[in-house]
Amino acid sequence: MKLYLDTAVYEEIEQAVGWGVIDGVTTNPTLIAKAGHDHEEQVKRICQIIGNVSAECVSEKKDDMVVEGRRLASWHKNVIVKVPLTPDGLGAGKVLASEGIRINVTLCFSVNQALLAAAIGAYIVSPFAGRLDDINEDGMRVVADIVSAYRQQEIKTKVLAASIRNPMHVTQAALAGADIATMPFAVLKQLFEHPLTAAGQKRFLEDYRKTQEAKPVQGQAREATAKR
Ligand code: G3P
Repeated sequence: MKLYLDTAVYEEIEQAVGWGVIDGVTTNPTLIAKAGHDHEEQVKRICQIIGNVSAECVSEKKDDMVVEGRRLASWHKNVIVKVPLTPDGLGAGKVLASEGIRINVTLCFSVNQALLAAAIGAYIVSPFAGRLDDINEDGMRVVADIVSAYRQQEIKTKVLAASIRNPMHVTQAALAGADIATMPFAVLKQLFEHPLTAAGQKRFLEDYRKTQEAKPVQGQAREATAKR
């Protein structure tokens, strides 16, 4: 399972790219607004340092979304155009996909919706696990069911577990067979954490320092040899 960051904050993406663990980024209008930058400028900047950058259409009508999707895709070859799981969104996605543009169908909450996304040739479908949990439904169950339906139907659309809220969601997405999980920076950082890793690393460094302290410094070692 590939790990993506769900953010539009450049500094977070830059840091995670430095750690070598992420393969892409998902943005949406809320995240762009939070980052406080111009949409085009920010997406282009992110595309300079990472591939697979989802950028979302905000038009509502199919024809407008087609025009907007072409414009988003023209910004950079790394852009994946996000369309909502609505009749207009899928209609536009179908046109864009037929032109070779990679499409991420967002706001998916059921297996049937995921089948619709696959029908237009989407590159990615994004089930929102956390938002299903929020309404007392099992979000990861839906992710697992979509993966299973796609496998049975030999559908190539990638399943991207979105709306990830905690590290357990990441483990569950991997066990469910998701192709990708996108998560906030705070959750990505949590993936590194384990008390035994921290304690083990502290001990290794302390023991190494002790061996360094026990070593005679070069000059003293020479004097001791000369005296002998
Ligand atoms: O990738 C979709 C994600 O941004 C939604 O997350 O936490 O707003 O439900 P959330």
